[in-house]
Amino acid sequence: MSGNNPKRGAIGIKDVAEQAGVSLGTVSNVLNRPDSVSERTRLRVLAVIERLGYVRSESARQLRAGHSRIIALLVLDIANPFFVEMARGAQRAARAAGLAVMVCNSAENPEEEADYFVMFAEQQVRGVLVTPTDSTASNLHAIRRRGIPFVFADRELPSTQACSVSVDDIAGGRMAVRHLLAAGHPRVVYVSGPPHLTQSRDRHAGALAALTEAGLPPGRLTVLEAGRFDVAAGRDAGARLLGMTDRPTAVFCANDLLALGVLQALYAAGVRVPEEVALVGYDDIDFAAAAAVPLSSVRQPAYRIGRTAAELLIEETDDGAGEGAAAHVHQKIVFQPELVVRASSLPGHRG
Ligand code: RIB
Repeated sequence: MSGNNPKRGAIGIKDVAEQAGVSLGTVSNVLNRPDSVSERTRLRVLAVIERLGYVRSESARQLRAGHSRIIALLVLDIANPFFVEMARGAQRAARAAGLAVMVCNSAENPEEEADYFVMFAEQQVRGVLVTPTDSTASNLHAIRRRGIPFVFADRELPSTQACSVSVDDIAGGRMAVRHLLAAGHPRVVYVSGPPHLTQSRDRHAGALAALTEAGLPPGRLTVLEAGRFDVAAGRDAGARLLGMTDRPTAVFCANDLLALGVLQALYAAGVRVPEEVALVGYDDIDFAAAAAVPLSSVRQPAYRIGRTAAELLIEETDDGAGEGAAAHVHQKIVFQPELVVRASSLPGHRG
């Protein structure tokens, strides 16, 4: 049997065709349009492919198509479980379409983001899913110029030049602070992420809207700015909170990682949550429910955001037999957040 096998590395589509007794076109159909081939032929060709160890050349395919089978996903922080969920959703949609997702981390840094966009163009990715580092998203020029389609994930795009999938963060901030005010807290601290990120600003706007609705002045909300959206920045904000004279009894954090950092700082200082300070985070990552004091959080459908964004990008870049790209219309999808109340803000726990 091994005498029939051409040397590994030298096996081409011709060898497969020869040994299966079919034309080159039939082998190509088996690989690219399996539905157009009879079951018997398909199985015969696949058996030869398996026996010879034939692997099709991706670079040749890429040359023909003008793009690879890779979707780039550029997130703000690869260590944040929110983005891991988003990547899982994107990967699910990509796999169903025979594509793979390459996840990259801008680390909330516009320069790294700009470098990645250039690299994506060089790699001829099929399209880009991105959570941008700033509200103007000016770095996108690098891929826009080259005609690479992109979709905003976890960020609304003001214009209709591309698709976007996001969550109504103003509603999310509003529901968090409304909940704390309803529990009887007269003043609230907002631990914001970096102010240049839309997520920080929208959640802040929502928090202020809740005060207005309750007939309270904006001065009832104190903002503690965190340099990053991570646990260390949360611990730092927690230390500043502890240093406040006449400290407010409620804290809303712009994401769960910040809230977990604040929780650590309060715990280390012996300040009880929620008896002395009620705490609400944002995202509802798995660690929120698993925290020492289960964390109340504004839930975002991270998996759905990733999956939906990838589906829109796949539709837009479809070069297969389906309607795909021709029928594609840019969409702006905005999911609604949901408040999940746990022990960290339960009024019953206040002393
Ligand atoms: O990266 C910033 C934050 O925005 C994340 O934690 C998540 O909340 C996203 O929406």
